[in-house]
Amino acid sequence: MEELITFDKVCLTYHTKESETPVLADMSFSVGRGELMGLVGPSGCGKTTVLSLISGIIRPTSGKVLTGGMAPEKCDISGYMLQKDELLPWRTNMANILLGAELKKRDKAAARQKALELLEKYDLKGVEKHYPDQLSGGMRQRVALIRTLVLAPQIILLDEPFSALDFQTRLQVVNDVYTMLKTEKMTAVFVTHDINEAISMCDRVAVLSSKPCHIKEIVDISVFKGIPPAERRISGEFVRLYDKILTSMQSRTEQTWNTQKNTPATSNGSAGKNLQ
Ligand SMILES: Nc1ncnc2c1ncn2[C@@H]1O[C@H](COP(=O)(O)OP(=O)(O)O)[C@@H](O)[C@H]1O
Ligand SMILES: [Mg+2]
Repeated sequence: MEELITFDKVCLTYHTKESETPVLADMSFSVGRGELMGLVGPSGCGKTTVLSLISGIIRPTSGKVLTGGMAPEKCDISGYMLQKDELLPWRTNMANILLGAELKKRDKAAARQKALELLEKYDLKGVEKHYPDQLSGGMRQRVALIRTLVLAPQIILLDEPFSALDFQTRLQVVNDVYTMLKTEKMTAVFVTHDINEAISMCDRVAVLSSKPCHIKEIVDISVFKGIPPAERRISGEFVRLYDKILTSMQSRTEQTWNTQKNTPATSNGSAGKNLQ
């Protein structure tokens, strides 16, 4: 499989006037074209930072990030889907969908045509004339995803996109978004703190630890390849994978940190069940 995202020994330190905070340490992983990679980890561990590096908003302190074999800021091939859909209430849904195309000065007629095709394909035909407030939470998220897809990104970055939705809506939207991402053959990185969601949607899930963030384990979910979230959830395998990821999240990684170089001095990852 062609590698579309590559992290090679990436370290990131946020600098403020008073202090330096090492956030990511020695992170290496790759995501293949068409793959859906999940990132799970505690709040504040560095998940959004990983997405910002992929999109090129920030650059690593050391190591290399590549998207499509290039520095992300040079190729602009990623699009975002955020927790809040950020649809502007005073614009129609179509005007919202075309906002990115306007800002990026893309061909508006072509973007409009693509938007109409996607709206029809994903059961939203006719909503282009309406306003976001007239849509359900689930429909709003699908409109937000279409706004991103219209820009034809190669990579979609999803930053906890469902956490503002109620439970029932969430189950449905997870299914819808999965179908849209797979139908459009997108490569995606999906950040969540919900293990259920990660197993429901992803092909692989990276378990992250905090202070500083590194990958504890990458769990393979390929037994569910091509199977939609609603069917995954009722499979016995789901419980086994849930337990595997939970165990990994709770395991203590014994690590002495070399703060000078922002690299691990020793690393004895343990698979124990100790809470951090
Ligand atoms: N611009 C910034 N300057 C300084 N520290 C930051 C900045 N952005 C994030 N951080 C810190 O980096 C850590 C990781 O943040 P983030 O990537 O947002 O975590 P997550 O998305 O996993 O909740 C946090 O401790 C946060 O406070
Ligand atoms: Mg975040």
